Amino acid sequence: MDGNGRWAEKQGKSRNFGHRAGRDRMIGLAAHARDRGIKYFTVYALSTENLARPQKELDSLFGLIRRYFASNIKKLYKENAAVRTIGDLSLLPDDIAKLLTDGEKNSPQNAGFTVVFAIAYGSRAEILSAVNKAVERGEILDEAGFEKLLYTSGLPNPDLIIRPGGETRMSNFLTYQAAYSELYFTDVLFPDFSDAEFDKAIENYAGRNRRFGKI
Ligand code: FPP
Repeated sequence: MDGNGRWAEKQGKSRNFGHRAGRDRMIGLAAHARDRGIKYFTVYALSTENLARPQKELDSLFGLIRRYFASNIKKLYKENAAVRTIGDLSLLPDDIAKLLTDGEKNSPQNAGFTVVFAIAYGSRAEILSAVNKAVERGEILDEAGFEKLLYTSGLPNPDLIIRPGGETRMSNFLTYQAAYSELYFTDVLFPDFSDAEFDKAIENYAGRNRRFGKI
């Protein structure tokens, strides 16, 4: 959800104002993605590197995450949607870690749509944690066995990764899982990333020929 800070600063507003707009846009996009028939919608809400931001900004982000998980997710449940969190919850304040765990536990069974929140998420930490678990168990793994040790266990690999905000890098996001994902980069800042912009990305994706290394 890149570009919230710049979007706000362009209007002379606080970065937190931008994050609130980003939160609102994320809620709108999740509903739109579900209406378009998408089954898994993942949002990169906080990276392990973002945790080094000034405490004031982190406190605002934690506040947004707290409020979202304490109230907004009930609307998702009502629509038979589930939530799932990927990341290292031990890096978060205890009450947030509990809200995220409960959010997952209280999700409807057999949901038709899942919103996956990457919070305190970093691919390097995820891969290292999986490797260390395997080493501890003295196991030699194949791909299926390794994938079970990742935070994303049980989730499909992403078909399409969209990065708004003008940067063309992956920033420690789903590095293993994205081996064959299609990538879409746009200069549009996240709060301006409308449903129509999302549809543009989907149309672009639909025109691609995915060969997965074959011919
Ligand atoms: C990136 O923009 C955005 C973030 C690091 C935070 C995104 C998180 C939220 C919007 C909180 C809402 C999440 C939930 C789960 C309710 P940036 O700050 O890096 O923007 P910039 O590059 O313009 O500075």
